[in-house]
Amino acid sequence: MKNITIIGAGYVGLVTGSGLSEFGNRVVCADIDKNKILDLNSGKIPIYEPGLDEIVNRNVNSERLSFSYDIPASIKNSEVIIIAVGTPQTEKGDANMFYVDSVVDTIVQNLDGYKIICTKSTVPIGTGNKIINILKKSFSEGIDFDYVSNPEFLREGSALKDFLWPDRIVVGTTSKKAYGIMCDIYRLLYINRNPIKHTNIETAEMIKYASNSFLALKISYINEIANLCESVGADIHDVASAMGQDGRISDKFLHPGPGFGGSCFPKDLESLNAISKEKNIKMETLNAAINANKNQKEIMAIKLENLIEGGIENKKIAVLGLSFKANTDDVRESSSIDIINFILKKGGIVRAYDPIANHSMSKFFREISYFDDVYDAINGSDGLVVMTEWNEFRALDLPRIKKIMNNAYILDTRNIISMLELSRLGFVYDNVGRVKI
Ligand code: NAD
Ligand code: UGA
Repeated sequence: MKNITIIGAGYVGLVTGSGLSEFGNRVVCADIDKNKILDLNSGKIPIYEPGLDEIVNRNVNSERLSFSYDIPASIKNSEVIIIAVGTPQTEKGDANMFYVDSVVDTIVQNLDGYKIICTKSTVPIGTGNKIINILKKSFSEGIDFDYVSNPEFLREGSALKDFLWPDRIVVGTTSKKAYGIMCDIYRLLYINRNPIKHTNIETAEMIKYASNSFLALKISYINEIANLCESVGADIHDVASAMGQDGRISDKFLHPGPGFGGSCFPKDLESLNAISKEKNIKMETLNAAINANKNQKEIMAIKLENLIEGGIENKKIAVLGLSFKANTDDVRESSSIDIINFILKKGGIVRAYDPIANHSMSKFFREISYFDDVYDAINGSDGLVVMTEWNEFRALDLPRIKKIMNNAYILDTRNIISMLELSRLGFVYDNVGRVKI
């Protein structure tokens, strides 16, 4: 069991920190955002992630997990330093390495003995070797380190489950000693089965981008098939479920929707695209996935406009679901942003509701109305669009909605509302790729 510092206490840093302390390690989550650390130290969890508060509290109480903004001290007291800061997209599309670079600077200034420097942030292939060169150049004789790429595969909304029961853990390093230490910090997982994949650094970095891109590609593919289903009288649910019964395809990530969003797929595809351009390697499938996703968001807007008789101008539209997927308060690159922008551009009035993401979205849109109750948002509206697959929206009281809506138009971009009931109650509705009843 090791002393570990995780630099960056965001989605990945906090989940990794609580998960590794649950495995018995002593972990400090360090962040430059002093307010975030003060909140964490007073028991406030800055993000919504199911189960996170419980596991954080348990490990804080057992003194295996703590939080600090004194990054130099945290580095000095740990044998393994994990970098988990953001790598957002630049305007050019490649990954912005500013945060990783500044963490490497801090590490250089505070390394005082053998340590493992491990990157969990998603970084362009070749970053590991750049970091190794910076560290080697900066060190005086006698200071030793090893480098590991340990990409993270958790999903927001099911992050703890993904971290504690991962399909695989990728450890990219050329050092036997570092590999042994990494196996040790994940030892509890290692006891029951061996999910650890040992590779070189570049391979580990590539596995992360290749995995995210493949999943995004799968979503774009099923979205395009869904769009075609509508034109030929086929039903996407039957198509996807039958496709998924083929083990070679698998039924995961075959749900059509309003286009993928989030803080990772969009930026990671662009980043891999930038890398492939730099290396002069054509990646047509990647570009297709990116373009198909842009189209999908536009198609949702067109669907909404076509559905509501007389257009959107001056109409009140209830937008249900603001986060990019269910079970998170993260609205980064959410398709809801695109639909809200579209409604506003067309002169419509947005009445927004999300069980937990109203606050996050209010940083993007101040001018729209947010509601704490779903039926208050729907009351008096001329149209309703479901953007996120929250369970709450699967069990909407449709007869009540029919009574309180001004006009009964519903666009269900997640295909979660019963078409039978919509049709029985006389709603005019649309969804993605279904044979309408
Ligand atoms: P985030 O924005 O939630 O958190 C990043 C944290 O780093 C912030 O709290 C910020 O204050 C802190 N930070 C920035 N600069 C710092 C510095 N110099 N020193 C200390 N702290 C600093 O980001 P995230 O969503 O956790 O993503 C982190 C990385 O992990 C990204 O590369 C992302 O692509 C990757 N990733 C994210 C997910 C996910 O589901 N969010 C999953 C797998 C991988
Ligand atoms: C994704 C990957 O699934 C994680 O393995 C990875 O670690 C993470 O990115 C990352 O690198 O940050 P995440 O973005 O949290 O995780 O969520 P997903 O469940 O993958 O959903 C991404 C988007 O795709 C959402 O907008 C979701 O609604 C959409 N999606 C997903 C679909 O439209 N259809 C599907 O079948 C699945």
